[in-house]
Amino acid sequence: MSSYDVIVIGAGPGGYVAAIRCAQLGLKTACVEARETLGGTCLNVGCIPSKALLHASHQLHEAEDNFAKMGLKGKAPSVDWKQMLSYKDDVIGQNTKGIEFLFKKNKIDWLKGWGSIPEAGKVKVGDEVHEAKNIIIASGSEASSLPGVEIDEKVVVTSTGALELGKVPKKLVVIGAGVIGLELGSVYKRLGSEVTVVEYLDAITPGMDAEVSKVFQRTLKKQGLEFILGAAVQGVDATKTKAKVTYKLKNDDSEVTLDADVVLVATGRRAFTDGLGLKELGVEMTDRGVVKTDSHFATNIKGIYAIGDCIPGPMLAHKAEDEGFACAEIIAGQAGHVNYGVIPSVIYTWPEVAAVGASEEQLKQDGRAYKVGKFSFMGNGRAKAIFAGDGFVKILADKESDRILGAHIIGPQAGELIHEICVAMEFGAAAEDVARTCHAHPTLSEAVREAALACGDGPIHS
Ligand code: NAI
Repeated sequence: MSSYDVIVIGAGPGGYVAAIRCAQLGLKTACVEARETLGGTCLNVGCIPSKALLHASHQLHEAEDNFAKMGLKGKAPSVDWKQMLSYKDDVIGQNTKGIEFLFKKNKIDWLKGWGSIPEAGKVKVGDEVHEAKNIIIASGSEASSLPGVEIDEKVVVTSTGALELGKVPKKLVVIGAGVIGLELGSVYKRLGSEVTVVEYLDAITPGMDAEVSKVFQRTLKKQGLEFILGAAVQGVDATKTKAKVTYKLKNDDSEVTLDADVVLVATGRRAFTDGLGLKELGVEMTDRGVVKTDSHFATNIKGIYAIGDCIPGPMLAHKAEDEGFACAEIIAGQAGHVNYGVIPSVIYTWPEVAAVGASEEQLKQDGRAYKVGKFSFMGNGRAKAIFAGDGFVKILADKESDRILGAHIIGPQAGELIHEICVAMEFGAAAEDVARTCHAHPTLSEAVREAALACGDGPIHS
């Protein structure tokens, strides 16, 4: 039996970051992971592989649509799907090996296998029981399907199966117009699939600032994605090679059936805590199966903490990382803290969509007096040079104090640009602080400055 200061269960972005931070703070640390490689869903079958396919398919789109305009003549490349998948696997491999290296460097023991907690202070992995003064549960989440929809990961797939299809499907039906559906729908559209997205609500990307959501839907439609909104999927009938998706339209209750070669079920994820023994231990959970924690990530059982997708809040890798970081600091006796008001969210389509803080709808609901500063990428020289004039930056600031309350960007590299606003918000900055900061020319970041200027006397280039 080995004994540790901390055992982390799960080596996803929440778990591995927590383990590294614990070790850096001088705690003897182990991390339990059953998967053959470290990095969890995000690195193995989520964020990282999908970004590889988004990048590759975007390059194809650039070659098909924009190369000739720039004087780059010649046949557009064709898709070698096997090679694209092996490039994606190579990217995964580089990243997962990187974490293995970091574990070694920080002297973290990787306990290979499924972990469970037979009693507080003990973690069982295989036949071995290890002692741990502190346990951090970072067991993540899994795709949640719909009643009447059976996943086989070949014809009816979650994001996991969608990242390793045997071939590019002719017809792809996506259930759910959330982040996963739109990112992977975009990949396959660019690779030549007919893509139809069926969404229960009347708008795509629930929770997103409505103005951005509308422009986003219009942009994706222009790229060829079809949307059926206000449609509740009733079930999927699948054979080994085809599927039929039946949905009911909310406005007239009519039922419609769509044919598909592949159906991607992207209707959300749920906390994954199976097999940990939490019920037997008496760990308090919410009625949605999520682990309850206090502001220090502590469960109701002394010495057991939880972070990431298995506790409440947005299911985002970087939220889990921040919680892992803070939880480690708290266990080490420091003052770890996560500012949930400044957690960016990004959709890595083209254009990208990024947000932080409040949406206009939330501010209205809260009765806040606010002002809007907006700037279109059409007025940004750099964006025009890369055929990315569509989209805008929108900053929401308090009407009286000018303090930034939120920002929403649809446009080129929105996922990078949003961080300027995140830093500004962390420092409680006013829009004028961003507006008075010198921004290099010509950069896309100038659009952020112009939106900040639009909160005051007005932008220069519109
Ligand atoms: P989601 O919660 O973002 O979207 C699910 C969509 O499915 C919703 O719009 C919902 O209305 C719709 N839906 C539910 N039942 C339906 C039905 N019967 N018929 C039609 N539509 C239905 O979930 P998604 O896209 O699966 O993502 C899961 C989680 O993973 C999210 O929390 C997301 O934040 C996270 N994620 C984040 C990424 C990023 O930050 N870039 C990338 C991938 C995932």
